[in-house]
Amino acid sequence: MSNNVKKDYTDRELAAMSNEELARLGTELDGVTVAYRKDRWPIENDPAEKRAATGVAIWLAISVVAAIAFLGIYIFWPWEFKMLGDEGHLLHTVYTPLLGLTSGLAIISLGMAVVLYVKKFIPEEISVQRRHDGPSEEIDRRTVTALLNDAWSTSTLGRRTTIKGLLGAAGVLFGLVVIAPLGGAIKNPWRAREMDYHGDGTLWTSGWTLQEQGVKLYLARDIGTIAEKHTGETGTHYTTQGISRLVRVRPEDLAAGGMETVFPLAEGDVNDGDRYDPEAVVYENHMHSIHGPRNPVMLIRLRSADADSVIEREGQEDFHYGDYYAFSKICTHIGCPTSLYEAQTNRILCPCHQSQFDALQYGKPVFGPAARALPQLPVTVDEEGYFVANGNFVEPIGAAFWERKS
Ligand code: FES
Repeated sequence: MSNNVKKDYTDRELAAMSNEELARLGTELDGVTVAYRKDRWPIENDPAEKRAATGVAIWLAISVVAAIAFLGIYIFWPWEFKMLGDEGHLLHTVYTPLLGLTSGLAIISLGMAVVLYVKKFIPEEISVQRRHDGPSEEIDRRTVTALLNDAWSTSTLGRRTTIKGLLGAAGVLFGLVVIAPLGGAIKNPWRAREMDYHGDGTLWTSGWTLQEQGVKLYLARDIGTIAEKHTGETGTHYTTQGISRLVRVRPEDLAAGGMETVFPLAEGDVNDGDRYDPEAVVYENHMHSIHGPRNPVMLIRLRSADADSVIEREGQEDFHYGDYYAFSKICTHIGCPTSLYEAQTNRILCPCHQSQFDALQYGKPVFGPAARALPQLPVTVDEEGYFVANGNFVEPIGAAFWERKS
């Protein structure tokens, strides 16, 4: 690598060389020509140098404060969801923007400090280097170390205690800003909590699992209602009293060849039809059901002629109600919503990677990367004529994971 430059130095000769000499030798051995080099502050105690150092320190201080603010907000801010009109709604609303603002500020100001430091304190230099092949020799390693030492001393960072301290603090805090949010992602996947519309927190449960605990679950569709606005003497407020987001579905609600997305609705949360109560407060529970990650189900009404050619899966022969079949909407590839049902071919299509499932063959995959059938929900109709779950799914919903057996 080192061209015509003398490189057969003994250990003693190398040990006798100063850092500056070794740095220069390293430059020559690397085939580097320093075309131009100028110290930024040739005059000692230049007031302009002090101003530049203060500028860097200010950016670092902003970064430190922003990183501390981010960690404080991340840990202590009231992040729990609050409905429109509820106390604390505004605080909840600004939680995510504040995290973005403080983390962004911490990163940008740290970046500004580094850029400013390089521009103001690292010597201006233009070097030209020829490329070489092969591994580095001992002499090169020693001289590179010397060059790095030289860079450290000429950067003057060693004697700038304030900047050094702030840079260390900003670097550590910035690392925490990156790492801290990962803490929220660490969960024990086996720890079960109380069962609700989200299941018990484990991957093999969903809102439909409530059915196993004796809860009567209706198949209900989302009608998209929102909180009502009232303006009175005390100002404007919102209420969800008497408002239903989910309403029960009956067979006659679906035309032949139609599909409806439905969610589990516990008997105690029903507030529609002749059970409507204007005083009932069920909206929040309805939203929990809609937000349950494994809850969406496609209720499909096959055309009668197609229903005649259905092939049932063994053990699931009575899961359907007449021409009505209910399949999990969560794709068994990697969990996208399989939202497209094509009545002409009876295929269910996942838009993410184009997997197709055959509704006439128990949701079996017939194209694309999905390898498992869409789990089928057993359904029937109750004495009032509404669809209800007739059991839970018999296999886990969605994509593969280590513990699933099917
Ligand atoms: S998630 Fe459905 S095909 Fe990939």
